[in-house]
This record gives sequence, structure tokens and C-alpha cells, in this order.
Amino acid sequence: MKYSDRVSKLGNSITLAISAKAKAMKGRGLDVISLSAGQPDFPTPEHIKAAGIAAIEGNITGYTASSGTPALRVAAAEWMTRETGVEYSPDRILISTGAKYSLALTILTTVNPGEEVIFAAPYWVSYPEMVNLAEGVPVIVKTDFANGFKLTPAMLENNITDKTRVVLLNSPSNPTGSVYTKEETIALAKVLEKYPDIWIVSDEIYSRLIYGDTEHFSIAAVSPAIAARTIVVNGVSKTFAMTGWRIGWMAGPKEFIARAGKMQSHTTSCPSSISQHAAEKALTLPDDFLIEMEGAYLRRRDMFIELLKDIPEIEPFKPDGAFYLFCDIGSIIGKTTPEGKRINSSVDFADYLLEQALVAAVPGGAFGIEGYIRFSFAASDEAIERGVSRIAEAVRKLS
Ligand SMILES: Cc1ncc(COP(=O)(O)O)c(C=O)c1O
Repeated sequence: MKYSDRVSKLGNSITLAISAKAKAMKGRGLDVISLSAGQPDFPTPEHIKAAGIAAIEGNITGYTASSGTPALRVAAAEWMTRETGVEYSPDRILISTGAKYSLALTILTTVNPGEEVIFAAPYWVSYPEMVNLAEGVPVIVKTDFANGFKLTPAMLENNITDKTRVVLLNSPSNPTGSVYTKEETIALAKVLEKYPDIWIVSDEIYSRLIYGDTEHFSIAAVSPAIAARTIVVNGVSKTFAMTGWRIGWMAGPKEFIARAGKMQSHTTSCPSSISQHAAEKALTLPDDFLIEMEGAYLRRRDMFIELLKDIPEIEPFKPDGAFYLFCDIGSIIGKTTPEGKRINSSVDFADYLLEQALVAAVPGGAFGIEGYIRFSFAASDEAIERGVSRIAEAVRKLS
């Protein structure tokens, strides 16, 4: 049988391969410590769970309006207005099955075959594949540790061509936790002002997970002209510990939302009615519990960085947001394991950690950059402590 070129071109997910292997090892009874999670380790708060249960018991179980329930669109518009400082009305919001589907829809709504989408590496694993699905061309701009893993205005402008259709930004970033400052964001917008036909897609799913004095600044807030061509993506997954509920959204110009909504109506009908009901409560009821969660992530980040000081071969980038530690492992590449195997790549090192230290982490290769590894601090203090001590032992055994 033949398959479409579209699906044949899709890459295999390194992340899924690692987590499948870790699961299989756990299944065999091995005590694998997972520092690879891309989701909060907190349960969904009780009052949000209760809203989901109430939706089922109240028979809120049928199809909803395709673009989302009116109540959730209102709640998301108000939340996004608070979050970004840009005035969003409900008709500028499209609720989808997770922020991931919102992102896929933004690309499918804007990109024709052969058109280019610019984004920075390290990138979130699905960006290139979303562009491939739309038969577009990913234009990947490498950033590095020294410049905080950020695109500069010059790097952006040097990659713009007459085929550029979208610039995709992600702040706070997965995998680095790097956050663009207001000034840096304005500088990127200044470049884009010269190219009025380019859409800006801003993935801000970690906007509420930022630490210390860092402030989240959405590029949509730069000016009304920029907001008119920016689609901001956010959702409840990370902020409210609701990854499995699958609710995200995009906020953008009305005409854009209507077109993306048409595509959604023919592909998923609508997001889950039950999850939408719970998400509406998440956005409208008091959210003091977020302070506690943010405090826990901050404490774990600092603890993790402190513990890693004992392993000079692993140098973490200090993240201002999200819950990942992206670490330089350049000096480990080329070393040999006790079994005589050479570590040629980040994938080899992640494999070694999993097999020797029983610690699951994600290799930089998954994010389009070699010589790095990503640990998640969405894990208990105990998991972090035991995990780092096992990693230290495994690194010591390399020669
Ligand atoms: C950068 C980034 N964007 C989007 C998403 C998707 O979030 P959701 O679970 O709402 O689909 C994730 C999830 O890992 C992410 O890390």
C-alpha cells in the first residue's frame, strides 16, 4: 500500500522512543527515575477536577460549538487580556484540543507548500514536523548558550526571504527555559515591521511559569499593528497541571480565527465538552494555588543547579521560565563507557544514563541541537536528588 508523502516525511520522535524505553524498563521492575517529563508533576487542583465531574453529572457531554463554548471563549479572552495586555474579545479566541493542535492549525492556516517558517533551535520537538505536515519548509536558526539561546534581530533578518510566511517564537522556551525580555521582543518586532506579510506565531504556553524578577512580555503587546498579525498560543496544560484534559487556544485577528475555526470544524468538530467546562473554571476561579506551584518549581530549579555543581561535565543553562534544565554536555561527547562504547551524541549519552544510571532525560538532538541534554525539574525533590547522584556516578565511570 502507498502512503502520502506528507506522512512519510514525518520524523520519528526521539522523545517518545526514550520514554517508551524508560516505561518498558519500569515495567520490568527497574527503579527508573524520570527527569524527562514535559508536564507538571502536580495533580489537577481539586476544584478543577470537581468541575469536570460536575460536567459529566450535569450531562454536559454533547458536541459544543466548534470554536469552543461561549463561556470558555469569554474566560480565555479575559485571561489572555490580563496575560498579554492586549484587548481580546471572544471572537478573537479559538479553543482547541491542546495548544499543540492550536499551533498545528496556525501553521496549516498560513503556510502553502514551499513557504518558509523561521524558528530558533533548540526548538520544541513538534515545530519542524508541523511545518512538514503543511508541506512548508522549516528554516531553523541555531542559537547558543552564550547568547541565552535567543534569536537576535540580525539572525532573524538574515533568514527572511520572499518565501517567509511565518516567524514562530517560543518564550519561555521548551527546552531551554530562556525568556525574551521586553526590549529583545520589541527589537525582533522592529525587524518584522519591515515585512508586513509575515505572520507571527507566539507560543506562550509557559507564560505563567517564570521565576524571580523575570517578566513575560508578549510580542502581540508591542503595537496594534503587530497584534493584527500575531497569533498567540496558550492553554491550561502547564499552568493548571491539566495536560491530559487537552485544552489550549489561539488568540489572534478575528478573520484568522474564523479561518482556523473552519479547519478545526472539519478535523476535530470541537474540543471535549467536559474539559472545556473544567478549563473555564480553571480560568475564572481564584488561582492562588499557582503561587505554590511556581514556588516549588523555583526551589527545585535552584536545588537542581546546586547539585549539578558537583558534575563539572554537565553545565546547566539557568532558565528564567518553564521547568527544564538544558545542559551543555560537550565535554562528555567522545568519552567511552565502562563497556567500551563511545558516546558520539546526546542520544548516546541519554541512552547511557537510562541504562547505567536508570535516569530518563531527553537528548538535545530531539530539539535540533547536539551536545546538550534536557532534564525536567517537574519532579519531586527526592527524584532530583537521587537522580543527580546516580548521574554523577555514571559520569565518573566514563573515560
Ligand atoms: C513549547 C510547547 N508548546 C506547546 C505545547 C503543547 O501543549 P498542550 O499540552 O496544550 O498541547 C508544549 C507541550 O509540551 C510545549 O512544550
